[in-house]
Amino acid sequence: MCGIIGIIGNEPVAPRLLESLRRLEYRGYDSAGIAVHTDAGPDRRRAEGKIRNLEAAIAAHPIDGVVGIGHTRWATHGAPEVRNAHPHTAGKVSLVHNGIIENFAELKTELQAKGQVFTSDTDTEVIAHLLDDALKTLPMKEAFKAVLDRLHGAYALAILIAGETETLLGARRGSPLVVGWGHDEMYLGSDALAVGPFTQRVTYLEEGDWVVLTRHGAEIFNARGLLVNRPVTVVSASAALVEKGSFRHFMEKEVHEQPESCQRTLSAYLDPVACAVRDDIKAGIDFSQIVRIQIIACGTAFYAGSIARYAFEKLAGLPVDVEVASEFRYRTPAITPGTLAVAVSQSGETADTLAALRWCKEQGMHTAAVVNVHSSTMAREADLMWPTHAGPEIGVASTKAFTAQLSALLSLVVCAARQRSRITAHEEAHLVQVLLGAPGLIAEAMAMDAEITRVTYDLSKARDVIYLGRGDMYPLALEGALKLKEISYIHAEGYAAGELKHGPIALIDENTPVVVIAPDDALFEKTASNVQEVAARGGRVIMITNVPEKVPALSGDAGKSLKVITAPSCDAFIAPLVYSVPIQLLAYHTAVHKGTDVDQPRNLAKSVTVE
Ligand code: F6R
Repeated sequence: MCGIIGIIGNEPVAPRLLESLRRLEYRGYDSAGIAVHTDAGPDRRRAEGKIRNLEAAIAAHPIDGVVGIGHTRWATHGAPEVRNAHPHTAGKVSLVHNGIIENFAELKTELQAKGQVFTSDTDTEVIAHLLDDALKTLPMKEAFKAVLDRLHGAYALAILIAGETETLLGARRGSPLVVGWGHDEMYLGSDALAVGPFTQRVTYLEEGDWVVLTRHGAEIFNARGLLVNRPVTVVSASAALVEKGSFRHFMEKEVHEQPESCQRTLSAYLDPVACAVRDDIKAGIDFSQIVRIQIIACGTAFYAGSIARYAFEKLAGLPVDVEVASEFRYRTPAITPGTLAVAVSQSGETADTLAALRWCKEQGMHTAAVVNVHSSTMAREADLMWPTHAGPEIGVASTKAFTAQLSALLSLVVCAARQRSRITAHEEAHLVQVLLGAPGLIAEAMAMDAEITRVTYDLSKARDVIYLGRGDMYPLALEGALKLKEISYIHAEGYAAGELKHGPIALIDENTPVVVIAPDDALFEKTASNVQEVAARGGRVIMITNVPEKVPALSGDAGKSLKVITAPSCDAFIAPLVYSVPIQLLAYHTAVHKGTDVDQPRNLAKSVTVE
């Protein structure tokens, strides 16, 4: 969603705000803007589109001052135009906002009746008007608290007030906000990355917290208005330092980081010396007491959960339901006593997943969160945090976070299988070794890059692409289709290969490439039959498999157009990890051929903190 930065410092603030906004651009890139306390009072610069447009606007009309706020926007209310770009102003108030104010229409009507004139279509502008109005009769803190009490919905806010040049205001409810601690400087940011160029010392505000920042510190109040102490955490340098290096895109870099990110994640769960799941992981959970697992997640994280389901049921005999959080939270699921609710989320902030997790907690369920941002709201609110160690993921399309989720979940499958006496210590050792071998095989899978690049010249011309897989390759096919559509804008659908003949086969013709993910497992022959069915209808098949010699000979045009991409051989348990690489590379190179914006595809944002 939107990204926020606020700085109360001692150096020219505009370049610093821009530096931070560049790091936050992954959260939204419909427009950007800054507001600064200048000698003549608060002033702002805004621009449609990416940060570079804002940079140009500031270069054309520089803005001087040492205190300011900045915003990069993912549009919700109001088109992505300059007049809807943040900061929004009203009288003395300039503010930036991430979230959605649900009762904005009612507040707007009330304010308009008082004569306030609105200049944007956003929900955010009502907050500026409300605060400006409240400041006419109340001191600053009281006014701010009174305004926050009137807002329904989600917000993270950073606010400048004319005449209050030694103060920045901030607040969070539903959207994340951190306070950064510098030397005689203080910061507000959507996450640790935002304040990373200036400090590694941050305080994560809690739900309902609001804060008054001066150059020398922060007064933090809770939702009831009581002064509270929140701990200061030192974040890792990796969260503070994120660069593309020699790669063309963050996505490419993140795909290539996967041997390391999976290795780091696996090491947190598996002991390579004992060849067993780590004791601290085993001590945190007793899967033998769990009757059912309910996985809740969105998008790519949902597919990671869907893949894990196959393994939990097969190896641990543990029933698993997986549901997209946006559906789960709005129906009335029947709950089996003894269910463990597991939220899977890179950001740990996705609004739907968080709401579903909270609902599960309210029902008295035991909860766990598999999260990459260890300080996120889900990490803090779940009973149990199962970390992934992918490091900051900047490319909007998730890659290394997905395989890190798989690494964590498959390690937990081994833990569950052992605790439920479904496997012996010897079998546990074998599975642990198989998992620990995955990073090497993922590295080997990178060698498919050249072969995949060749195939994608053709793929980039397609209008529709179908992905097929069986077993746990089915959710991977869904993930492959999602990756392709989000970064190349080519329509793609994933199907269970056996389901093809029940309808989707009508789509097959010589213009529709069919990507088949078929490791040499118990289902290979079945998938090969589906390939024949596609070929018989003139379909163009791209088959990803470790057994090219077993790919059926296809006759006619289907035979001529058949492309086989050879993957490394691996144990079926880790095939989802290894086969993630070719499907990510396929999407990546197709998008590069098409010339789309790989890291920041249109309409998307990382960390969807609105529902
Ligand atoms: C797709 C993608 C999204 C996210 C989804 C959930 O490449 O990144 O589908 O997976 O928005 O986000 P998290 O994992 O942060 O909850």
